[in-house]
Amino acid sequence: MEILRVENLCKKYGTKDTEVVALDNASFTVERGEFVAIVGASGSGKSTLLHLIGGVDRPTSGKVWIDGTDIYELDHDKLAIFRRRQVGLIYQFYNLIPILNVVENITLPLRLDGKKVDQKKLSDILAILELQNRKEHLPNQLSGGQQQRVSIGRALINHPAIVLADEPTGNLDSRASREIMDLLKVSNRKYNQTVILITHDENIALEADRILTIEDGRIISNEKVR
Ligand SMILES: Nc1ncnc2c1ncn2[C@@H]1O[C@H](COP(=O)(O)OP(=O)(O)OP(=O)(O)O)[C@@H](O)[C@H]1O
Ligand SMILES: [Mg+2]
Repeated sequence: MEILRVENLCKKYGTKDTEVVALDNASFTVERGEFVAIVGASGSGKSTLLHLIGGVDRPTSGKVWIDGTDIYELDHDKLAIFRRRQVGLIYQFYNLIPILNVVENITLPLRLDGKKVDQKKLSDILAILELQNRKEHLPNQLSGGQQQRVSIGRALINHPAIVLADEPTGNLDSRASREIMDLLKVSNRKYNQTVILITHDENIALEADRILTIEDGRIISNEKVR
């Protein structure tokens, strides 16, 4: 089943002399449960593409459907709610709320929605993330790898339609990177979570089901790995 459809997506920044075509007519689809890697040189448009898929930024033209919803047809408020429920975002720098502890950061999307926290699910997630003994720690009391695990927990708690990760291991040493990749794979296999991941690391990309390569804002290849 198709979970994401990207059609003729374009993003231009600036005007005339300063115009940059960051994304040039990108089209592809992703099936539910797929693990897709996006690779390409610095400045090729990877983050731009991910932000447009996630409804963080608006395209100059083109469309994005997530689980059948044409997201840019939603008004500003509806898009914000849709994003909170259906898109899990993970960045290189963890973007945690500094005054909230581990459990509060992970459950934030639910609480913003006025939803009750499923304690069983929360304790499952804390166990998978190996954060059971850090529940009340604040972000600045955690290692980089632990902070990234919290941001993964926050991305997964709602069981979103897609998880989007922009170089989630870019700031971590090799062991912590391995743990983060294993967690993303577990969420993909165990919960059939669709994951789209930007990476510079060829070995990490080869662990995906499919690799999209982007060059100068254009998707130049879309290849199944397995
Ligand atoms: N807000 C902006 N205003 C103007 N130009 C921008 C803006 N954001 C990105 N760009 C330009 O768009 C192009 C694509 O940027 P993008 O951040 O998507 O690249 P990237 O592939 O993620 O690179 P990296 O691997 O370095 O993160 C770049 O040439 C960049 O300079
Ligand atoms: Mg980027």
